[in-house]
Amino acid sequence: MTGMVLMSAIASHSPRIGIEAEAPDFLRGVIAGEYALGRAIQALEPDVIVLQSAHWVTTFTWYVTCQARHRGVCVSDELPDLIPGQPYDRPGDPEFGAGLVEAIKAKDLLAGRNETAHYKWDYGTFVPLQYLDPAQRIPVVTMGTCILADLDECYCVGTAIREAAANSGKRVVFVASSALSHRLVRNPASWPTPENQALDREFVAMLCQGRTGEARRFLNGFAKRAQVEMGGRNIATMLGVLDGTTADHQSGVEYGKYGPSSGAGHTNFAIRIQ
Ligand SMILES: [Fe+2]
Repeated sequence: MTGMVLMSAIASHSPRIGIEAEAPDFLRGVIAGEYALGRAIQALEPDVIVLQSAHWVTTFTWYVTCQARHRGVCVSDELPDLIPGQPYDRPGDPEFGAGLVEAIKAKDLLAGRNETAHYKWDYGTFVPLQYLDPAQRIPVVTMGTCILADLDECYCVGTAIREAAANSGKRVVFVASSALSHRLVRNPASWPTPENQALDREFVAMLCQGRTGEARRFLNGFAKRAQVEMGGRNIATMLGVLDGTTADHQSGVEYGKYGPSSGAGHTNFAIRIQ
């Protein structure tokens, strides 16, 4: 069987949507989009979802989860009142996780396995998955975001994800769990500044029009000007997954609506790779 990445996506993890019933009206369009992106992923029947969370921050090494089962309770240390203890119980894929570690190492980058049974998910991992795969059926391999990596290194890791998929013979969906612009303020309902909203929309428009090479050049400045979450590292990985694929000329789809969360810009977006 030919292994490949089927889709590269960006998904929101606003903590305000950590519990759907308690989410504010201004994020209902984002929730609808996250469910719609999930239906698109489920329709592809992938063997594994690789999710990179902007909230699992590593310093030196790219870590990848290799547990056979992800079972636990997610508590947001940042906002324990919003996400006080949400249970999750999903299959992992130790074989694919180990293969991804080797693929990253093959790029002369530091990578390691997270195999501890005591590991608990951050909310950047938990929140999108509850909408993308509510039935908790699709195996998940999660990975951290390395703070010492520049954007070029993140693009390179995206390429490694594609190569790991090819080596494994598995059909993979990649999800970057990240906001776009991320200049935070202490008001949950605040929109990004008009300038940052314009930058967010320009970036998404480029991807919707299949201008992924241009989007990559744009991200270098966008990440700094709009304070994109985690310096744009997760989005760079998402673009790296596309680099050199036929997706370079395919249009993306934005699901639901772009919305605000404490001054940050959130949306759900994917490019299908064929
Ligand atoms: Fe975040």
